Amino acid sequence: MTIYSFSQLVLNWYHVYGRKDLPWQKNKTLYIVWISEIMLQQTKVQSVIPYFKKFISYFPNIQSLINAKLDDILYLWSGLGYYNRARNIYKSAQIIQKQHQGIFPNQFTDIIKLPGIGKSTAGAILSLSLNFSHSILDSNVKRVLIRYYGIKSSLKNQKIEKKLWSIIELITPIHNSGKFNQAMMDIGSLICIHKQAKCYICPLSQKCVAHIEQKWEKYPIKVIKKKSPKKISWFVLIKFHHYIWIEKNTEKNIWKNLFCFPSFDTKKKALLWLKEKKININKRKEMISFIHKFSHLILHIHPILIDLSSIITIYEQQNIGIWYNLYKSQHIALPQPVKKILENFKKDIL
Ligand code: ADE
Ligand code: SF4
Repeated sequence: MTIYSFSQLVLNWYHVYGRKDLPWQKNKTLYIVWISEIMLQQTKVQSVIPYFKKFISYFPNIQSLINAKLDDILYLWSGLGYYNRARNIYKSAQIIQKQHQGIFPNQFTDIIKLPGIGKSTAGAILSLSLNFSHSILDSNVKRVLIRYYGIKSSLKNQKIEKKLWSIIELITPIHNSGKFNQAMMDIGSLICIHKQAKCYICPLSQKCVAHIEQKWEKYPIKVIKKKSPKKISWFVLIKFHHYIWIEKNTEKNIWKNLFCFPSFDTKKKALLWLKEKKININKRKEMISFIHKFSHLILHIHPILIDLSSIITIYEQQNIGIWYNLYKSQHIALPQPVKKILENFKKDIL
């Protein structure tokens, strides 16, 4: 099979079956495609859609984003995870203001310098928005190539990365690069699925090594994942009627600048802190523990509830936290498990 016919097969498939109605495909400006591509890093299309729509309704263009506060961006991101992406969007907007006169750059070398953007994302932005001839090599595309060429490698193998880049750059057509790239991602996520390749509807099946061998499950080689480390966190939920105390996380971790409950790595520390705050710990209620999975660790959350009979001052200083009002949704950034606990309280009182 010639190189030409690989891209032709993919493009022909795209014209009939490719995704053309995703929310970020309506008005494909550099800005719109940038935001969508950052959201789509490590996150599935269906999870991204509502977040993308909300984000664009608040910040429809780069100018509105340049004027945005980091807190507002984090608020719109909260629940989507990987918050560094949101912080990088904020930093990028500031760079675009200072170095590019507030206009999203259209040169590969400028785009790739923005925080959170690597070679594949830069290629995605330029090809999907402007049809510039650049390639995309995300994990979906990698899986298709590994199966098609029968490459005996895992997805995570850094050594194979260079080889995959040279293959994809060779087969990306000069014309219609955007459509080709979209189609490769679509084939990877809709047909050449990680757990179940649907070779019977794949446009590439005729010359695909994995299909010819009838062994798609052998590609890519699976690496046994190390068990994620466990971390324990005791969440202290201080409640007064429909108010719950939450504070801005200042620790330099994944939830930096998001609003969290006071939390501690041991129960002892949690109780000690409560005592320091002169809160009666005898009335505490330990709630059902649950876990929250990150890509790199599993957080075991143990919530302790304190129902106050009168309001207290937790900190003398201002700006540490707020009494979150359960009757009213407030525009602040909350991590997923904090959101979940607040939602449950809301259900109870409403
Ligand atoms: N993953 C990353 N970018 C994507 C896109 N434009 N469409 C579908 N999945 C994607
Ligand atoms: Fe994947 Fe099957 Fe298509 Fe090969 S033929 S690329 S294994 S879906």
